[in-house]
Amino acid sequence: MIDENAVVAADAVVDPAAAVGPFCVVGARARVGAGARLEAGCVLAEGASAGPDARLGPYTVLEAGSQVGAGAALACRVTVCAGTVVGDGAVIGAGAVLGRPPLAAAASTVRATDSGPLILAEHCVVGAGAVVYAGTRLAKNVFLGDGALVRENCGVAERAVIGSGCIVENDVQIGRSVKIQSGAYITAHMTIEDEVFIAPMVVTTNDNFMGRTEKRFALIKGATIRRRARVGGGAVLLPGIEVGRESFIAAGAVVTKDAGAGKVLVGHPARERRDVPEDELLP
Ligand SMILES: CC(C)(COP(=O)(O)OP(=O)(O)OC[C@H]1O[C@@H](n2cnc3c(N)ncnc32)[C@H](O)[C@@H]1OP(=O)(O)O)[C@@H](O)C(=O)NCCC(=O)NCCS
Repeated sequence: MIDENAVVAADAVVDPAAAVGPFCVVGARARVGAGARLEAGCVLAEGASAGPDARLGPYTVLEAGSQVGAGAALACRVTVCAGTVVGDGAVIGAGAVLGRPPLAAAASTVRATDSGPLILAEHCVVGAGAVVYAGTRLAKNVFLGDGALVRENCGVAERAVIGSGCIVENDVQIGRSVKIQSGAYITAHMTIEDEVFIAPMVVTTNDNFMGRTEKRFALIKGATIRRRARVGGGAVLLPGIEVGRESFIAAGAVVTKDAGAGKVLVGHPARERRDVPEDELLP
């Protein structure tokens, strides 16, 4: 059913079993699948599509060419930017912005690049107010907490969790089943391997010259955190260091050098204290 106060372009395709609420605008060549439900004030720009049984909350906007998959549920005022793909069964919180094009500040040395659209695979969950940039890919069942920010050119593997208020800068690879807890800061150009655990408010860094000198451009590098390593609350990882497989960085540690596999490191500067106990190692 199409509400009498909705505006639907002549060449839009709205399945007869879809519901289009009052004050919705369905643009040219947009598509609304069977069983989809658009609450009041939704906008589907040119060529956008809402798949079968998708639900769009009030004032949600699908920009040109964006696609929302079957059974996805978007709360109110979600913005799906041009070209973004939201997979089947996704759950997106109120006010989230998906596929925001990167913008560079006038004073920034980093130029915005076009790396294609944001793609969310099936069954991702994105919290209220989260922002994910274009050029990033979230695999199946990724979870982003409320207010999380994930910038461009990141890859997030299946079942990874990025907690509320985390910031993930550009060009970061996050492995399968990684857990990054609330408020952690993940700097640009980091690699975080499968099953890593990062506690709240961890800070990672990538530039020892803090914005000075030309040579810094060649040396900028975030940490590499190997498989199953754990980084405790409030720890600081200095640029370019490697945290070894199954190692354990204590809360508040400042890691200045590579951390060996399976070791507990404590303090600032962090020093090896003991091996990680057998019963804490994952099978
Ligand atoms: C490393 C950790 C497990 C403690 O290790 P531990 O070997 O059991 O240490 P102990 O409690 O026996 O303390 C031994 C000494 O180290 C000190 N110490 C313990 N943890 C420390 C830390 N994180 N930083 C600095 N010193 C620490 C203790 O004060 C104690 O000093 P003392 O001998 O002078 O009294 C703990 O500090 C830690 O980091 N836990 C992780 C918590 C966390 O971030 N969880 C994330 C999810 S919320």
